Amino acid sequence: MSQKNIVVGVTGGIAAYKALDVISKLKKKDYNVHVIMTRSATEFVTPLSFQSLSQNMVITDMFAEPKAFEIQHISLAKKADLMLIVPATANIIGKVTNGIADDMLSTTIMATTAPVVFALAMNTNMYKNPIVVENIEKLKNHGYSFISAESGRLACGDVGEGKLADTELIADIAESILYDTKDMIGKKVLVTAGPTIAPIDPVRFITNRSTGKMGYAIAEEARDRGAEVTLVSGPCNIKKPFGINLIKVNTNGEMLEAVLNKFESQDIIVKSAAVADYKPENYSSKKIKKSEDDLRINFVRDNDILMRLGKLKTSQVLVGFAAESNDVIENAKSKLARKNLDYIVANDITSHDTGFASDENRVTIIARNGNTVQYDKMSKRQVARNLFNLINEKRI
Ligand code: CTP
Repeated sequence: MSQKNIVVGVTGGIAAYKALDVISKLKKKDYNVHVIMTRSATEFVTPLSFQSLSQNMVITDMFAEPKAFEIQHISLAKKADLMLIVPATANIIGKVTNGIADDMLSTTIMATTAPVVFALAMNTNMYKNPIVVENIEKLKNHGYSFISAESGRLACGDVGEGKLADTELIADIAESILYDTKDMIGKKVLVTAGPTIAPIDPVRFITNRSTGKMGYAIAEEARDRGAEVTLVSGPCNIKKPFGINLIKVNTNGEMLEAVLNKFESQDIIVKSAAVADYKPENYSSKKIKKSEDDLRINFVRDNDILMRLGKLKTSQVLVGFAAESNDVIENAKSKLARKNLDYIVANDITSHDTGFASDENRVTIIARNGNTVQYDKMSKRQVARNLFNLINEKRI
Protein backbone atom coordinates (compact mmCIF):
# COMPACT_ATOMS: atom_id res chain seq x y z
CA MET A 1 0.00 0.00 0.00
CA SER A 2 1.27 3.47 -0.82
CA GLN A 3 2.51 5.59 2.06
CA LYS A 4 -0.02 8.01 3.53
CA ASN A 5 0.78 11.72 3.73
CA ILE A 6 0.46 13.70 6.93
CA VAL A 7 0.91 17.45 6.77
CA VAL A 8 2.03 18.71 10.18
CA GLY A 9 1.40 22.40 10.82
CA VAL A 10 3.60 23.89 13.53
CA THR A 11 2.53 27.16 15.10
CA GLY A 12 4.39 29.50 17.43
CA GLY A 13 4.12 28.21 20.95
CA ILE A 14 6.70 26.91 23.40
CA ALA A 15 5.40 23.38 22.73
CA ALA A 16 6.67 23.67 19.12
CA TYR A 17 9.71 21.56 20.04
CA LYS A 18 7.39 18.69 20.97
CA ALA A 19 6.17 18.60 17.38
CA LEU A 20 9.61 17.17 16.54
CA ASP A 21 8.85 14.18 18.72
CA VAL A 22 5.42 13.72 17.12
CA ILE A 23 7.04 13.76 13.67
CA SER A 24 9.66 11.24 14.73
CA LYS A 25 6.89 8.93 15.95
CA LEU A 26 4.89 9.39 12.73
CA LYS A 27 7.97 8.53 10.67
CA LYS A 28 8.42 5.34 12.74
CA LYS A 29 4.83 4.47 11.86
CA ASP A 30 5.93 4.83 8.24
CA TYR A 31 4.01 7.95 7.20
CA ASN A 32 5.31 10.50 4.73
CA VAL A 33 5.43 13.76 6.70
CA HIS A 34 5.42 17.31 5.29
CA VAL A 35 5.87 20.25 7.62
CA ILE A 36 4.48 23.76 7.35
CA MET A 37 5.71 26.23 9.97
CA THR A 38 4.25 29.61 10.75
CA ARG A 39 6.73 32.48 10.92
CA SER A 40 6.50 32.61 14.71
CA ALA A 41 7.08 28.83 14.97
CA THR A 42 10.47 29.39 13.34
CA GLU A 43 11.37 31.67 16.27
CA PHE A 44 11.06 28.67 18.60
CA VAL A 45 12.63 25.84 16.55
CA THR A 46 14.64 25.97 13.34
CA PRO A 47 13.10 24.61 10.13
CA LEU A 48 16.24 22.54 9.70
CA SER A 49 15.28 20.34 12.68
CA PHE A 50 11.89 19.63 11.09
CA GLN A 51 13.47 19.07 7.70
CA SER A 52 15.93 16.55 9.14
CA LEU A 53 13.24 14.55 10.91
CA SER A 54 10.57 14.69 8.21
CA GLN A 55 13.07 14.20 5.37
CA ASN A 56 11.09 16.69 3.33
CA MET A 57 11.56 20.39 2.60
CA VAL A 58 9.88 22.50 5.28
CA ILE A 59 7.57 25.24 4.07
CA THR A 60 7.60 28.50 5.93
CA ASP A 61 6.99 31.21 3.38
CA MET A 62 4.05 31.42 1.03
CA PHE A 63 5.96 33.45 -1.53
CA ALA A 64 9.29 31.65 -1.50
CA GLU A 65 10.64 30.39 -4.77
CA PRO A 66 8.69 27.17 -5.45
CA LYS A 67 10.85 24.04 -5.39
CA ALA A 68 8.71 22.46 -8.06
CA PHE A 69 6.24 23.82 -10.54
CA GLU A 70 3.12 23.54 -8.45
CA ILE A 71 1.26 25.90 -6.20
CA GLN A 72 2.52 24.67 -2.86
CA HIS A 73 -0.42 25.30 -0.58
CA ILE A 74 -2.76 23.69 -3.05
CA SER A 75 -0.49 20.75 -3.75
CA LEU A 76 0.05 19.96 -0.06
CA ALA A 77 -3.62 20.51 0.68
CA LYS A 78 -4.41 17.93 -2.02
CA LYS A 79 -1.66 15.55 -1.06
CA ALA A 80 -2.65 15.44 2.64
CA ASP A 81 -4.47 12.39 3.95
CA LEU A 82 -4.48 14.14 7.30
CA MET A 83 -3.49 17.56 8.64
CA LEU A 84 -2.21 17.68 12.18
CA ILE A 85 -1.61 21.05 13.83
CA VAL A 86 0.94 20.65 16.66
CA PRO A 87 0.89 22.78 18.70
CA ALA A 88 -2.28 24.65 17.81
CA THR A 89 -2.29 28.09 19.40
CA ALA A 90 -5.24 30.40 20.05
CA ASN A 91 -4.07 32.38 17.03
CA ILE A 92 -4.43 29.63 14.40
CA ILE A 93 -7.79 28.58 15.91
CA GLY A 94 -8.99 32.18 15.68
CA LYS A 95 -7.80 32.52 12.09
CA VAL A 96 -9.47 29.35 10.85
CA THR A 97 -12.72 30.14 12.68
CA ASN A 98 -12.86 33.46 10.88
CA GLY A 99 -11.84 32.17 7.48
CA ILE A 100 -8.52 33.98 7.46
CA ALA A 101 -5.92 32.55 5.12
CA ASP A 102 -2.92 34.85 5.27
CA ASP A 103 0.03 32.48 5.44
CA MET A 104 0.96 29.06 4.16
CA LEU A 105 -0.48 27.12 7.10
CA SER A 106 -3.84 28.86 7.37
CA THR A 107 -4.18 28.77 3.56
CA THR A 108 -3.47 25.04 3.41
CA ILE A 109 -5.95 24.32 6.22
CA MET A 110 -8.60 26.23 4.24
CA ALA A 111 -7.77 24.47 1.01
CA THR A 112 -7.65 20.87 2.20
CA THR A 113 -10.50 18.39 2.20
CA ALA A 114 -8.54 15.99 4.44
CA PRO A 115 -9.41 15.67 8.13
CA VAL A 116 -7.77 18.40 10.24
CA VAL A 117 -6.83 17.77 13.87
CA PHE A 118 -5.68 20.54 16.21
CA ALA A 119 -3.53 19.47 19.19
CA LEU A 120 -4.14 22.38 21.52
CA ALA A 121 -1.44 24.04 23.64
CA MET A 122 -1.54 27.51 25.14
CA ASN A 123 -1.52 29.43 28.39
CA THR A 124 -4.33 28.37 30.78
CA ASN A 125 -6.12 31.71 30.66
CA MET A 126 -6.04 31.71 26.87
CA TYR A 127 -7.30 28.11 26.85
CA LYS A 128 -10.22 29.08 29.05
CA ASN A 129 -10.89 32.36 27.29
CA PRO A 130 -14.54 32.24 26.14
CA ILE A 131 -13.54 33.44 22.68
CA VAL A 132 -11.18 30.48 22.24
CA VAL A 133 -13.73 28.07 23.75
CA GLU A 134 -16.40 29.38 21.36
CA ASN A 135 -14.06 29.18 18.36
CA ILE A 136 -13.26 25.55 19.16
CA GLU A 137 -16.98 24.74 19.39
CA LYS A 138 -17.61 26.41 16.03
CA LEU A 139 -14.79 24.48 14.38
CA LYS A 140 -16.04 21.21 15.88
CA ASN A 141 -19.40 21.91 14.28
CA HIS A 142 -17.60 22.30 10.97
CA GLY A 143 -16.01 18.87 11.35
CA TYR A 144 -12.57 19.82 12.68
CA SER A 145 -11.17 17.63 15.46
CA PHE A 146 -9.28 18.56 18.61
CA ILE A 147 -6.86 16.90 20.97
CA SER A 148 -7.44 18.60 24.31
CA ALA A 149 -4.58 20.14 26.23
CA GLU A 150 -3.61 18.52 29.52
CA SER A 151 -3.14 19.99 32.96
CA GLY A 152 0.31 20.59 34.28
CA ARG A 153 3.00 23.15 34.83
CA LEU A 154 3.15 25.49 31.85
CA ALA A 155 6.14 27.34 30.43
CA CYS A 156 4.92 30.64 31.88
CA GLY A 157 5.05 29.11 35.38
CA ASP A 158 1.28 28.82 35.72
CA VAL A 159 -0.21 25.49 36.67
CA GLY A 160 -3.37 24.50 34.86
CA GLU A 161 -4.81 23.27 31.59
CA GLY A 162 -2.91 24.16 28.45
CA LYS A 163 -0.07 21.63 28.16
CA LEU A 164 0.23 19.82 24.84
CA ALA A 165 -1.13 16.26 25.05
CA ASP A 166 1.35 13.41 25.22
CA THR A 167 3.20 13.13 21.90
CA GLU A 168 2.59 9.38 21.75
CA LEU A 169 -1.14 9.98 22.13
CA ILE A 170 -1.08 12.52 19.27
CA ALA A 171 0.75 10.09 16.96
CA ASP A 172 -1.61 7.23 17.96
CA ILE A 173 -4.67 9.37 17.23
CA ALA A 174 -3.25 10.17 13.77
CA GLU A 175 -2.71 6.47 13.14
CA SER A 176 -6.24 5.66 14.27
CA ILE A 177 -7.75 8.28 11.93
CA LEU A 178 -5.75 6.89 9.02
CA TYR A 179 -6.48 3.22 9.81
CA ASP A 180 -6.92 1.32 6.57
CA THR A 181 -10.22 -0.40 7.44
CA LYS A 182 -13.21 1.76 8.34
CA ASP A 183 -16.02 -0.76 8.04
CA MET A 184 -17.56 -0.26 11.50
CA ILE A 185 -18.65 3.37 11.33
CA GLY A 186 -22.02 3.72 13.07
CA LYS A 187 -21.65 0.35 14.84
CA LYS A 188 -21.80 0.06 18.63
CA VAL A 189 -19.45 -2.43 20.19
CA LEU A 190 -19.22 -3.52 23.82
CA VAL A 191 -16.09 -5.33 24.98
CA THR A 192 -15.31 -6.78 28.39
CA ALA A 193 -11.72 -7.27 29.48
CA GLY A 194 -9.49 -8.31 32.34
CA PRO A 195 -10.25 -10.32 35.44
CA THR A 196 -12.91 -9.71 38.05
CA ILE A 197 -12.18 -9.95 41.73
CA ALA A 198 -14.16 -11.61 44.50
CA PRO A 199 -13.52 -9.86 47.84
CA ILE A 200 -13.08 -11.95 50.97
CA ASP A 201 -12.61 -9.15 53.48
CA PRO A 202 -11.56 -5.47 53.19
CA VAL A 203 -7.96 -6.41 52.37
CA ARG A 204 -8.21 -9.78 50.58
CA PHE A 205 -9.72 -11.03 47.37
CA ILE A 206 -9.33 -13.82 44.86
CA THR A 207 -8.83 -13.21 41.18
CA ASN A 208 -7.11 -14.78 38.14
CA ARG A 209 -4.16 -14.18 35.83
CA SER A 210 -5.98 -12.23 33.11
CA THR A 211 -4.11 -9.04 32.15
CA GLY A 212 -6.80 -7.54 29.94
CA LYS A 213 -4.49 -7.28 26.91
CA MET A 214 -6.78 -9.28 24.61
CA GLY A 215 -9.88 -7.24 25.45
CA TYR A 216 -8.11 -3.88 25.13
CA ALA A 217 -6.75 -4.95 21.72
CA ILE A 218 -10.29 -5.84 20.59
CA ALA A 219 -11.65 -2.51 21.81
CA GLU A 220 -8.90 -0.56 20.00
CA GLU A 221 -9.38 -2.50 16.77
CA ALA A 222 -13.12 -1.73 16.82
CA ARG A 223 -12.42 1.96 17.58
CA ASP A 224 -9.92 2.28 14.73
CA ARG A 225 -12.43 0.69 12.34
CA GLY A 226 -14.86 3.48 13.25
CA ALA A 227 -17.08 1.85 15.89
CA GLU A 228 -18.40 3.54 19.01
CA VAL A 229 -16.79 1.40 21.70
CA THR A 230 -17.60 0.77 25.35
CA LEU A 231 -15.00 -1.18 27.28
CA VAL A 232 -16.02 -2.69 30.60
CA SER A 233 -12.78 -3.56 32.29
CA GLY A 234 -11.84 -5.39 35.44
CA PRO A 235 -8.73 -4.24 37.32
CA CYS A 236 -5.67 -4.23 35.08
CA ASN A 237 -2.56 -2.15 34.45
CA ILE A 238 -3.23 -0.94 30.93
CA LYS A 239 -3.28 2.75 30.07
CA LYS A 240 -6.76 4.14 29.38
CA PRO A 241 -7.25 3.94 25.62
CA PHE A 242 -8.30 7.13 23.85
CA GLY A 243 -11.62 7.44 22.07
CA ILE A 244 -13.24 4.61 24.05
CA ASN A 245 -15.88 4.81 26.78
CA LEU A 246 -14.06 2.98 29.59
CA ILE A 247 -16.09 1.66 32.52
CA LYS A 248 -13.94 0.25 35.31
CA VAL A 249 -15.42 -2.46 37.51
CA ASN A 250 -14.14 -4.86 40.16
CA THR A 251 -16.58 -7.67 40.80
CA ASN A 252 -18.68 -10.05 38.71
CA GLY A 253 -21.81 -8.22 39.91
CA GLU A 254 -20.46 -4.82 38.86
CA MET A 255 -19.50 -6.17 35.45
CA LEU A 256 -22.96 -7.70 34.99
CA GLU A 257 -24.63 -4.41 35.86
CA ALA A 258 -22.41 -2.36 33.52
CA VAL A 259 -22.95 -4.80 30.65
CA LEU A 260 -26.72 -5.06 31.14
CA ASN A 261 -27.01 -1.25 31.15
CA LYS A 262 -25.53 -1.11 27.65
CA PHE A 263 -26.46 -4.46 26.11
CA GLU A 264 -29.67 -3.58 24.31
CA SER A 265 -28.24 -0.76 22.21
CA GLN A 266 -25.15 -2.68 21.03
CA ASP A 267 -24.50 -4.30 17.66
CA ILE A 268 -21.62 -6.51 18.73
CA ILE A 269 -20.64 -7.74 22.21
CA VAL A 270 -17.28 -9.41 22.76
CA LYS A 271 -16.84 -10.96 26.19
CA SER A 272 -13.14 -11.51 26.60
CA ALA A 273 -13.11 -10.93 30.36
CA ALA A 274 -12.07 -13.76 32.65
CA VAL A 275 -15.04 -13.51 34.97
CA ALA A 276 -14.86 -15.16 38.39
CA ASP A 277 -17.44 -17.96 38.58
CA TYR A 278 -17.40 -18.15 42.37
CA LYS A 279 -17.40 -15.73 45.27
CA PRO A 280 -17.01 -16.26 49.01
CA GLU A 281 -20.36 -17.18 50.52
CA ASN A 282 -19.90 -14.56 53.22
CA TYR A 283 -17.97 -11.35 52.84
CA SER A 284 -16.39 -10.31 56.12
CA SER A 285 -16.67 -6.56 56.56
CA LYS A 286 -13.93 -6.79 59.21
CA LYS A 287 -10.44 -8.06 58.43
CA ILE A 288 -10.26 -11.78 59.17
CA LYS A 289 -7.76 -12.28 61.99
CA LYS A 290 -5.49 -15.29 62.05
CA SER A 291 -6.06 -18.05 64.58
CA GLU A 292 -4.48 -21.39 65.30
CA ASP A 293 -7.14 -23.13 63.18
CA ASP A 294 -7.10 -23.62 59.43
CA LEU A 295 -9.21 -21.20 57.47
CA ARG A 296 -12.00 -22.53 55.27
CA ILE A 297 -13.89 -20.27 52.93
CA ASN A 298 -16.96 -21.57 51.22
CA PHE A 299 -17.40 -20.31 47.65
CA VAL A 300 -20.78 -20.01 45.98
CA ARG A 301 -21.61 -19.64 42.28
CA ASP A 302 -21.71 -16.12 40.87
CA ASN A 303 -23.42 -14.89 37.69
CA ASP A 304 -22.55 -16.33 34.30
CA ILE A 305 -22.77 -13.00 32.48
CA LEU A 306 -22.42 -14.41 29.00
CA MET A 307 -25.11 -17.01 29.61
CA ARG A 308 -27.46 -14.18 30.67
CA LEU A 309 -26.64 -12.23 27.51
CA GLY A 310 -27.24 -15.32 25.36
CA LYS A 311 -30.76 -15.52 26.77
CA LEU A 312 -31.44 -11.80 26.28
CA LYS A 313 -29.96 -11.63 22.79
CA THR A 314 -32.10 -10.30 19.95
CA SER A 315 -30.18 -8.97 16.94
CA GLN A 316 -26.80 -8.55 18.64
CA VAL A 317 -23.75 -10.50 17.53
CA LEU A 318 -22.49 -12.22 20.67
CA VAL A 319 -18.88 -13.38 20.90
CA GLY A 320 -17.41 -15.36 23.78
CA PHE A 321 -13.97 -16.61 24.66
CA ALA A 322 -13.02 -20.07 25.82
CA ALA A 323 -9.78 -20.50 27.69
CA GLU A 324 -9.25 -24.23 27.73
CA SER A 325 -6.53 -26.56 28.89
CA ASN A 326 -7.83 -29.71 27.17
CA ASP A 327 -10.21 -30.73 24.38
CA VAL A 328 -10.10 -27.11 23.26
CA ILE A 329 -12.36 -27.25 20.20
CA GLU A 330 -14.86 -29.66 21.68
CA ASN A 331 -15.23 -27.62 24.89
CA ALA A 332 -15.45 -24.36 22.96
CA LYS A 333 -18.17 -25.72 20.69
CA SER A 334 -20.22 -26.87 23.63
CA LYS A 335 -19.85 -23.42 25.30
CA LEU A 336 -20.95 -21.73 22.09
CA ALA A 337 -24.12 -23.82 22.01
CA ARG A 338 -24.80 -23.62 25.75
CA LYS A 339 -24.43 -19.83 25.89
CA ASN A 340 -26.23 -19.15 22.58
CA LEU A 341 -23.24 -17.38 20.99
CA ASP A 342 -22.58 -16.39 17.39
CA TYR A 343 -18.81 -16.92 17.62
CA ILE A 344 -16.38 -18.27 20.14
CA VAL A 345 -12.65 -17.60 20.26
CA ALA A 346 -10.90 -20.62 21.72
CA ASN A 347 -7.37 -20.72 23.01
CA ASP A 348 -5.22 -23.33 24.69
CA ILE A 349 -3.98 -21.84 27.96
CA THR A 350 -1.38 -24.58 28.42
CA SER A 351 0.59 -23.17 25.47
CA HIS A 352 3.66 -21.61 27.12
CA ASP A 353 4.41 -18.89 24.53
CA THR A 354 0.93 -17.34 24.23
CA GLY A 355 -2.09 -16.65 26.39
CA PHE A 356 -2.59 -14.60 29.54
CA ALA A 357 0.25 -12.12 30.03
CA SER A 358 1.59 -12.48 26.50
CA ASP A 359 1.17 -9.96 23.67
CA GLU A 360 0.42 -12.89 21.40
CA ASN A 361 -2.23 -15.50 21.13
CA ARG A 362 -2.92 -18.63 19.10
CA VAL A 363 -6.65 -19.02 18.61
CA THR A 364 -9.33 -20.91 16.77
CA ILE A 365 -12.52 -19.06 15.93
CA ILE A 366 -15.68 -21.10 15.69
CA ALA A 367 -18.94 -19.80 14.22
CA ARG A 368 -22.45 -20.76 15.26
CA ASN A 369 -22.83 -22.97 12.18
CA GLY A 370 -19.79 -24.99 13.22
CA ASN A 371 -17.39 -23.45 10.69
CA THR A 372 -13.93 -23.13 12.17
CA VAL A 373 -10.81 -21.13 11.36
CA GLN A 374 -7.55 -22.00 13.03
CA TYR A 375 -4.88 -19.28 13.18
CA ASP A 376 -1.14 -19.40 13.80
CA LYS A 377 0.42 -17.51 16.68
CA MET A 378 -0.06 -13.76 16.16
CA SER A 379 -0.34 -10.48 18.09
CA LYS A 380 -3.51 -9.98 20.09
CA ARG A 381 -4.27 -6.98 17.90
CA GLN A 382 -4.08 -9.21 14.81
CA VAL A 383 -6.41 -11.72 16.50
CA ALA A 384 -8.85 -8.83 17.03
CA ARG A 385 -8.49 -7.83 13.36
CA ASN A 386 -9.24 -11.35 12.17
CA LEU A 387 -12.22 -11.64 14.48
CA PHE A 388 -13.85 -8.47 13.11
CA ASN A 389 -12.97 -9.48 9.54
CA LEU A 390 -14.96 -12.67 10.05
CA ILE A 391 -17.88 -10.91 11.74
CA ASN A 392 -18.12 -7.97 9.35
CA GLU A 393 -17.72 -9.97 6.18
CA LYS A 394 -19.82 -12.87 7.55
CA ARG A 395 -17.09 -15.12 6.21
CA ILE A 396 -17.90 -18.10 8.38
N1 CTP B 1 -18.06 -15.68 31.27
C1 CTP B 1 -19.01 -14.87 31.85
N2 CTP B 1 -19.35 -15.04 33.16
C2 CTP B 1 -18.80 -16.00 33.90
C3 CTP B 1 -17.82 -16.84 33.33
C4 CTP B 1 -17.48 -16.65 32.02
O1 CTP B 1 -19.52 -13.99 31.17
N3 CTP B 1 -19.14 -16.14 35.17
C5 CTP B 1 -17.72 -15.51 29.85
C6 CTP B 1 -16.29 -15.11 29.58
O2 CTP B 1 -16.19 -13.70 29.44
C7 CTP B 1 -15.98 -15.82 28.28
C8 CTP B 1 -16.81 -17.06 28.38
O3 CTP B 1 -17.88 -16.77 29.26
O4 CTP B 1 -16.42 -15.11 27.14
C9 CTP B 1 -16.02 -18.19 28.95
O5 CTP B 1 -16.92 -19.14 29.27
P1 CTP B 1 -16.55 -20.29 30.24
O6 CTP B 1 -15.36 -20.93 29.66
O7 CTP B 1 -17.79 -21.03 30.53
O8 CTP B 1 -16.09 -19.66 31.49
P2 CTP B 1 -15.24 -20.48 32.37
O9 CTP B 1 -15.41 -19.91 33.71
O10 CTP B 1 -13.88 -20.48 31.84
O11 CTP B 1 -15.93 -21.96 32.26
P3 CTP B 1 -15.27 -23.38 32.64
O12 CTP B 1 -14.69 -23.15 33.96
O13 CTP B 1 -16.43 -24.26 32.59
O14 CTP B 1 -14.27 -23.66 31.56
